[in-house]
Amino acid sequence: MMVCEYKPGLDGIPAAQSSISNVDGQKGILEYRGIRIEELAEKSTFLETAYLLIWGELPTSKELAAFEDEVHSHRRIKYHICDMMKCFPESGHPMDALQASAAALGLFYSRRDLNNPAYIRDAVVRLIAKIPTMVAAFQLMRNGNDAIRPHADLDYSGNFLYMLNEKVPDPLAARIFDICLILHAEHTMNASTFSARVTASTLTDPYAVVASAVGTLGGPLHGGANEEVVEMLEDIGCVENVRPYIEDCLERKAKIMGFGHRVYKVKDPRATILQNLAEQLFTKFGHDKYYDIAVEMERVVQEKLGHKGIYPNVDFYSGLVYRKLGIPTDLFTPIFAIARVAGWLAHWKEQLEENRIFRPTQVYDGKHDVSYTPIDQR
Ligand code: CMC
Repeated sequence: MMVCEYKPGLDGIPAAQSSISNVDGQKGILEYRGIRIEELAEKSTFLETAYLLIWGELPTSKELAAFEDEVHSHRRIKYHICDMMKCFPESGHPMDALQASAAALGLFYSRRDLNNPAYIRDAVVRLIAKIPTMVAAFQLMRNGNDAIRPHADLDYSGNFLYMLNEKVPDPLAARIFDICLILHAEHTMNASTFSARVTASTLTDPYAVVASAVGTLGGPLHGGANEEVVEMLEDIGCVENVRPYIEDCLERKAKIMGFGHRVYKVKDPRATILQNLAEQLFTKFGHDKYYDIAVEMERVVQEKLGHKGIYPNVDFYSGLVYRKLGIPTDLFTPIFAIARVAGWLAHWKEQLEENRIFRPTQVYDGKHDVSYTPIDQR
């Protein structure tokens, strides 16, 4: 058997052949099915982008309307799921609540008919429709309120903000939120997508695939970084503290949250779009002093770490956008999941098309031929 060099974090090792998205990390380009992210952010909607990712082509207006109708009609969640969520501790992290609830969907819908396109479509629709409802329901229930029903007249993003805040959102806020979902929908072989593909390769049900990906997304080195960015900006407190904060991190060899990326060696194109969205929100709804701190951080980090290719990633400005939309910090990562479910499902479907179970190897560096020591002699 060929012995390959061990690469921690599988750095540079292809784990799949995929036509869903592409990143050019040197040029700062991200494409979904060949279309640049900037163009999708300007012209598309999240549901249209999800369709593109999952079925490979932009939908016709008839196909899009049918998909939107199906998603809208599946937004409600069963009262058993609501009852289960009511029993979750209020102090629990919403990502844990989401992981458990996504897995619980499998109890209701698992038939595992993976060769049937109708089963695939149903699962796609249910997961895209129900995940935002579950995130909003947990937010209301942990504050002692009942979850509210989806709003029949609001689109996907407007309805999520409505279910979260119990009021119809401003149209600009809803559109900006929808663009955030487009930006977070897919990103090649990141950790949670890899996790989704590994789980998919066992031919388990799609609810288990999404639950495993949600669990992976929650870590601070992945989706959890956007929460930590906001906490970091609050800790820094004012523009004058930025330079000493960064110098201290560098001295302690601590990672600065929201910077650096395995693939991008320039500023993440999504960070550029999010920065622009943050500015639009501040123009309409008032400035946020943490934005000035963020801009100064970007300047100082570029001065100190630009030579290593460390620039803002997608998580750096997204938290400021969500803050301005009135979203609590610990919902930032669940919102990432609402978007990324489109990418996970696209990879689930692609994995099933040419499936082989993931079973990598390892480089064993342990002992051999060790004899068993009886417990009283240890
Ligand atoms: N702050 C300071 N130095 C950094 C940072 C950072 N944020 N990121 C990387 N470096 C340095 C690192 O110290 C190392 O330097 P040296 O070669 O001198 O030892 C070099 O850059 C390479 O770093 P690495 O940790 O080997 O890079 P990686 O590809 O394994 O990790 C990363 C990528 C995103 C996990 C890392 O950059 C990081 O921890 N960033 C902070 C957390 C963060 O913002 N995560 C969100 C990632 S983007 C969205 C997502 O995937 O969910």
